[in-house]
Amino acid sequence: MAFLTAEFDGTRDMWRSASGRLCVVGPAAAREVMGNRRGAFVETSDFFHVRNGVFGPRSAQIEIGRGARSLIRHRLDVHRADLPRLVAERLVPTSTWPDAGNLLVREHLRDVLLCPDAPAELHMAVEGIITRAVLAGARQRHSVMSRLLFRRRVMRVLVQEVQARRRARVAAPRDLLDVAVTGAGLSADPGEVAEVYLSFLFATVGSLGFALGWSVYLAGTHPDTSTDEPSWIVREALRLWPVAWLFARRPSREHELAGVTVGPHDEVNVCLYLVHRHPRHWERPDEFEPRRWAAPLHDPAFMPFGFGPHTCAGATVTMTLLEDLIRIITRDWHLSVSATGNGPHLGPALAPPRFTAELHDRVAAPRGGE
Ligand code: HEM
Repeated sequence: MAFLTAEFDGTRDMWRSASGRLCVVGPAAAREVMGNRRGAFVETSDFFHVRNGVFGPRSAQIEIGRGARSLIRHRLDVHRADLPRLVAERLVPTSTWPDAGNLLVREHLRDVLLCPDAPAELHMAVEGIITRAVLAGARQRHSVMSRLLFRRRVMRVLVQEVQARRRARVAAPRDLLDVAVTGAGLSADPGEVAEVYLSFLFATVGSLGFALGWSVYLAGTHPDTSTDEPSWIVREALRLWPVAWLFARRPSREHELAGVTVGPHDEVNVCLYLVHRHPRHWERPDEFEPRRWAAPLHDPAFMPFGFGPHTCAGATVTMTLLEDLIRIITRDWHLSVSATGNGPHLGPALAPPRFTAELHDRVAAPRGGE
């Protein structure tokens, strides 16, 4: 990220970097790449990316996306009233982030991530995936060999369960693994179905948890914004620190993109982090100003959930949960934050720095809080 930021002169929409990669930071060009309306890029989806290519067909991808959204939507509707208690139990008086956000999301969605009657071995495997691969910095705590062995073990358990659920012919999905199994159909490779399920763990506990972390971090370090609309806080946090921040795409044929000729040998990188801070499209692009969302923004350079046919299937449920949690955290409590880490944690997802959050009663808030 540092080198992309250093190479960006604040005016261009696209350039070829010193390493030869093409960087896209203009919103129109970013939409052209991500939307791929003219088929000028090789069809792909980061979510459905599996070891041997891309899980498909497209009809199964759509079915799985819809199934997941409706399962999560139902869970959020039924358990909305539990959120204040969850916040009180997990975040009061102090919590350590970003893990606190991931674990809170995990707790709230526990039964849709994996239904309670799934085998104990699978529950342990999911627990292991979260602590060894999803939490910020988790991977670096294990050697390559240990990661390989762990992945092999987890995939074995998951594939067994995929096969067992196929045999059982589940009628209505109970959890996201059922969604993947039923949406994929009987001819899909069980290993690929297991990988799609892993994508759900990364999207829910990982991405959603990190996005919550960024909103809490920014609201807590900008106390003057804590009375702003929760939806503005969440949007502004996703603008400044888009969790999904970089997308690599390959042109399927030679064509012009933002005045540059690109071809099948190029790697085109859409950097959402810079799209969201492009000075031609944002005033004071690096400032956290939730109030900029008070008036509708026309054609904003803003696409935290992607763009086009592969736009995130979980975008609306994600926004609902984030806004509900930020409303509780900033309205019911007095929030203060102190950073303990060294800046954002950069991986496939952009995680917040380590920080501590304190939540105090509004009436008894320290330092004269309301
Ligand atoms: C803050 C949280 C999240 C962020 C930032 C995010 C971001 C994204 C982005 C940028 C894409 C497009 C990828 C591409 O074009 O290659 C995507 C796709 C997808 N996301 Fe999310 N996501 C989040 C949460 C979720 C959740 C909670 C779910 C669970 C339902 C989910 C399910 C999906 C699916 C199924 C796709 C693939 C859509 C398709 O290809 O048709 N995401 N997400």
